[in-house]
Amino acid sequence: MNHKGHFMLTHAITADSGLEFAAEVRAGLTKAGQKELPSKYLYDDVGSALFEVISVLPQYGLTRADERLLRRHASEIVEQVPGPVAVAELGSGSGKKTRWLLKALCRRQHVSYFPIEISPTALAMCERELGDIDFMSIVGFEREYLDGLVEVAARRREGQNLLVLFLGSTIGNFDRPAAAKFLREVRQILQPKDSLLLGTDLEKPIPQLLAAYDDPLGVTAAFDLNLLARINRELDADFVLEQFEHLARFNPEARSVEMHLRSRRRQSVSIPRAEMTVAFSEGETIWTESSHKYCPEEMSRIASDAGFFCKAQWIDQEWPFAENLFVAE
Ligand code: AVI
Repeated sequence: MNHKGHFMLTHAITADSGLEFAAEVRAGLTKAGQKELPSKYLYDDVGSALFEVISVLPQYGLTRADERLLRRHASEIVEQVPGPVAVAELGSGSGKKTRWLLKALCRRQHVSYFPIEISPTALAMCERELGDIDFMSIVGFEREYLDGLVEVAARRREGQNLLVLFLGSTIGNFDRPAAAKFLREVRQILQPKDSLLLGTDLEKPIPQLLAAYDDPLGVTAAFDLNLLARINRELDADFVLEQFEHLARFNPEARSVEMHLRSRRRQSVSIPRAEMTVAFSEGETIWTESSHKYCPEEMSRIASDAGFFCKAQWIDQEWPFAENLFVAE
C-alpha cells in the first residue's frame, strides 16, 4: 500500500525579506579592533553549493562522521526518544542525513517533519530529498531557528513530544556563551520529555583540523572568499578577491578553528549599499567563522546548564564526532 500521497503535505511558509545584510556588514567592518562578518552569510546559493563540496572532501571528515552515526545508530537513537514525536530540524540543509532517523521513526509512528531553514533553496532540496518517505508529512518553515521552532511547537498535538534535531555541529559555529544561550532558548520553547539531538564535532589533532578548514583544492578558501563576492553582488561593493586570502587558525583558548580573510595589501573598499568605505592595512583580517570543538565529557554539563539531561551519546571513532541526545527536564 502506498501511503505517500495521502500523508504528504509540503509547503514553505515564507519569511519577510529584510535588508539586515547591509546593516550587519557595516557593523562588522566598522568594529574597533578585529573586523568580522557573521558566518551565516557564507550560505547564499554559491556558498551552500561550495559547502556541499567541502562535506565530501577527504580532509573534512565531519559530515561523513555525522552521517555514519545517524545511519548506524538510527534505530537505537529513536528507541531512546520519548514518543510519540513530531520532528523539527534546525537548519536541515539537504536533508540527506536525516533520512535514516526519519525512516526509523516512521517504523513506529506516522511522523510530522518540520525542517526550519532560512535558505529557500535548501528547504526545497530537503523536501525533494525526503518527500518519498512513507508515513511522513513535511511542512517547511523558511525562518530563523528559534522563530521557526516557536511556530512548530504551537502546532504540536495533544500528547505529542517534540524531537528537535540540530545536526552537523552547527552549534560549533556559535561561540560558547552564545551556544549556551541558544540551548537555553531552545529549552524554553520545549516542554519536559521533549528532546534535542545535538551533533558536536570533537577535539582532534590541530594539523588535522587545519587541513579540514584549509584544504589543498582551495574549496574552503572559495567558500570563505565567496562572502566578499556576495557583498560585491548584493551590496555593489568593489572587493578585489585576489587581494584577499583565506586562512584557518586554531584558537587554543576557545578550542575553535577560526577562518579569516586576510588583506594582501593596504587597500580601501567601497560598499555603496552599506553606505561605507572600509580601509584595510596589509595583513589585516576579517574574521568570518569559528568552528568550536568539544570533548564528550563536557556534554552533560552543557545539557544541564540549559535545562536538559544528556540521556545518551554516540561517538564516531574514525572522525571523532558525537551525537548527543538531550532530554528536557
Ligand atoms: C556548518 N559548519 C558546521 C561547518 C563547520 O565545520 O564549522 C562550516 C564550515 N566552515 C568551513 N568548513 C566547514
